[in-house]
Amino acid sequence: MAEVIIVPDAQAAGGLVADEIARLIRANPEVVLGLATGSTPLPVYEALPERLDGVDVSRVRGFALDEYVGIDPAHPESYRSVIHREVVEPLGLDPALIRTPDGSLEGIEHAGADYESAIAAAGGVALQILGIGTDGHIGFNEPGSSFASVTRVKTLTQQTLEDNARFFDSVEDVPMHCITQGLGTILRARHLVLLAFGEGKAEAVAGAVEGPVTASLPGSAIQLHPHVTVVVDEAAASRLQFADYYHYTYDNKPAWQGL
Ligand code: GLP
Repeated sequence: MAEVIIVPDAQAAGGLVADEIARLIRANPEVVLGLATGSTPLPVYEALPERLDGVDVSRVRGFALDEYVGIDPAHPESYRSVIHREVVEPLGLDPALIRTPDGSLEGIEHAGADYESAIAAAGGVALQILGIGTDGHIGFNEPGSSFASVTRVKTLTQQTLEDNARFFDSVEDVPMHCITQGLGTILRARHLVLLAFGEGKAEAVAGAVEGPVTASLPGSAIQLHPHVTVVVDEAAASRLQFADYYHYTYDNKPAWQGL
């Protein structure tokens, strides 16, 4: 099962995950990172610069999970812009080495296959950061997504459109379609790190970590992966049945074991 780490707040989670990412970059300057958008990974990105002081990041490679279809790449809320603003610029990464799926309408039929090829050519993702939607989606894999799915176009649920309306002027402005790494793609990353904060994520987290493995809750796909770390605050952990055990195992974690 996933290792579940319950931390006091999002900042503590950010520090923990940033430590591991910095370690990976130092060990392999060409490491391939799996990047996520949304508000959840922000504490990780914010904690990284101080940990990378003096570290050569010029060859670090990255793949974002998803993108809206038909959005102008220059739109401030395209995931390409978001990754650029929140990760590439503050960390000083080479923008040419950090990719998002191509959501342009032209060529959208083969954009998924192209992205899969690019990830494979890079040798796969070493560490994939994941948030989780209130409906249990990871990436933009909405309920019903196949566990074998690869990068492809999906239609967003009404709930996701409403959740993401805060980034746009209105819910009508949120693009209805997206292109997202599939659950099968995500499961090929060597280490999955799922973060969630706040009461609003508690149900999705409990379903993903302890519920049945079901396409109805795509986050439950993490149970099929051999190396998963779930980092949550107390509120997001509030519906976990085995929270006491997670605290106990983390308090007694062998010193030699990394994240
Ligand atoms: C978005 C993204 C997901 C993200 C999720 C949660 O729709 N496609 O990758 O994990 O929703 O977002 P947030 O972290 O802002 O709660």
